[in-house]
This record gives sequence, C-alpha cells and structure tokens, in this order.
Amino acid sequence: MNKQAVVAHILRDCFKVPKYRQGTAFAPANIALCKYWGKRDLELNLPTTSSLSISLGSFGAKTTLYLQEGASHDVVFVNGKEVKAESTFVQNLVAFLDLFRPSPFSFFQIETEVNIPIGAGLASSACGFAAVVGALNQLYGWQLSMSNLSILARLGSGSAARSFWHGFVEWNCGVEKNGMDSFGVSLCEKWPNLRIGLLIFNAAQKPISSRIAMQNTVLTSPFYKLWPEKQACDLNRLREAIQSQNFIVLGETAESNALAMHALMLTANPAFFYSEPQTIAAQHKIWHHRRLGLPLFFTQDAGPNLKLLFLEQDSEAIEEIFPELEIIAPFSTHEMHPEGASS
Ligand code: PMV
Repeated sequence: MNKQAVVAHILRDCFKVPKYRQGTAFAPANIALCKYWGKRDLELNLPTTSSLSISLGSFGAKTTLYLQEGASHDVVFVNGKEVKAESTFVQNLVAFLDLFRPSPFSFFQIETEVNIPIGAGLASSACGFAAVVGALNQLYGWQLSMSNLSILARLGSGSAARSFWHGFVEWNCGVEKNGMDSFGVSLCEKWPNLRIGLLIFNAAQKPISSRIAMQNTVLTSPFYKLWPEKQACDLNRLREAIQSQNFIVLGETAESNALAMHALMLTANPAFFYSEPQTIAAQHKIWHHRRLGLPLFFTQDAGPNLKLLFLEQDSEAIEEIFPELEIIAPFSTHEMHPEGASS
C-alpha cells in the first residue's frame, strides 16, 4: 500500500477542490516520553512499537495555506522568510502536498510561524506536518475526524501523528498493513504542576535525519530485537505513572527510554551519537543534583538538546542550575489555548 492509496481512502467522500480561499491551523510540538524508533512500514511511517508523548502547549507551528491558481510552483515562508525551493525542508513539504493537489498544475503558498528551532530534535517536523494537515482540512472543508487527521500527518512524519492534541498522547503502532489503526489518541489525564524545560545547546539542523538514523539502527544494531520488549514495559509504566501522578516513575521511565534509544544508535553500524559535550555535561549535572535529592529527569530526541522533566515546586531550584532554561507548563490554560490554536 502506498501513501496515495491511504489518502484516496480517507478522502473518498471529501471535497476534491478547496472550499475556502485559505486554511489555517496550529499544532503543538510534542516530546516523546516513550520513543518511536523503528518502522514496520517505511512508506507509510508505521512504527514497530507504540509511543507516548507530551505536547508543548503554545510551542509549535501555525500554518496558513492558500491555493495559488496560475502559479508554477509552491512557495514556502517560515517566520516571514521565503525558504529556498532546493532545501530539503521545502522538497519534503512539496512531496507531501503532491498528495493533496486538486490537479498536478495547482500550487500552494504556505506560510508557517514556528516558535521552536527547526530540525534540531525539537519536534518541528511533527508540529509542522500536523499544522499543514490541519490547514488542508480547513482549506478544503473536509471536516475529518481526529484519527484521520493523525493518519494523514503520519504520512509526512511519524511523530506528527501525536501533534493534534494538548497533554499526553499515545500513538498505537497498530497491526493493519494499511495503517488505518495507527493514529494518535489523547489521554484524558491532566498534570497541572508538571513542567518541561527546554535546554537548547545547538539549534542548528541535525547532521543526520531521524529517518536515516532510525532505519540504520533497525537494520544494523544487534540489540534492536530487545527494543519492543523495553517499549512495552516502559509504555505500561508511563501509563500507570500518569494515572497515579507518580512523578518519579514518570521521570525515571522517560529518561531510561531515551537513553536506551541513544544506546541503540551507538550499537548500530555506522554508530551514531547525537550528544555533544554540553549534552553530556548537562546529563552529569542532572544526575549529580538528583543524587542530592532533586527530582529532575531528562529526555533527548534526535539532536543534542535536552528536555528536562520536573514539578512546579522545583522550578526555582532548577532555574538556578540551568539559568538558560525555557520552562513550559504543558497543562496551563494559557499554554493550552494560545491565540489562534485549534484545540
Ligand atoms: O517523526 P520523525 O521521523 O521525526 O521521528 C521522531 C523520532 C524521535 O523524535 C527521536 C522520537 C519520537 O517518538 O518523537
């Protein structure tokens, strides 16, 4: 099954031409506490294991799409600046939009406002593709269900399947070949005093994409066969920690899951290490303060930056250790309903 067939199936009863002049949507970035690392289907971005994330409130992407009749190509603006057509970013987006054009001669103008660094392991592709799908849904007047929106966004980037909701989201790996059972589901639990701190050392584009690093790990790490079992166990522990609001179990499990993912990459051939010296120094600092009794944990994605997990009451102490920290309250009303957000 290919992407076109999935899109045709989901949009079979939908408008084939835009109903409105423009469509706009916001999607929050999401950080996995239990990671997606490995695909059971490369074309459809179907994961080998289920994953669980927390969304970053008002941090994400807001995208407006216009259909530009008479134009000769798509034009992409990010934060007000036109992005070169030759860039990988635009090429990926154009290939994704090919799935949704009313005719091969129709082109879009895409305007995106992103308030997190792009391509630095901060889930910019997740919120980016989710916002594009949300904007297409508006533009065409499709009125798709959240699960179908999640499936369409997954075709652009796997983790985008989790970027349609605030709070905790689980993405089921599913078993169907066409992936119609592999989409995000929002968990109802809220955790008002949970905090996420962004520790950004390097906001530059990562040298190797998560897509390549992931596949390289699956194909060459002798330890990848242990990953599904670890994932199943971590996912259960996280679900229980969220239900019982047990922060220590949440933090320990998320940190262990991220470290296991990076350890797998070290055992791949060629080995790959996203951490930089500052990443390792910060990890040691976190472990040091934890030994002294501070409940502080981290998670790390396909980049050198860390996302810290802690509770509101420890914010001040943690800001003293990491003054550059950007703190997010993922369940605050303000963060969950930013201006223009579709929540
Ligand atoms: O969706 P992708 O292809 O950008 O992969 C995301 C991979 C991780 O961010 C490392 C893990 C995750 O579950 O988000």
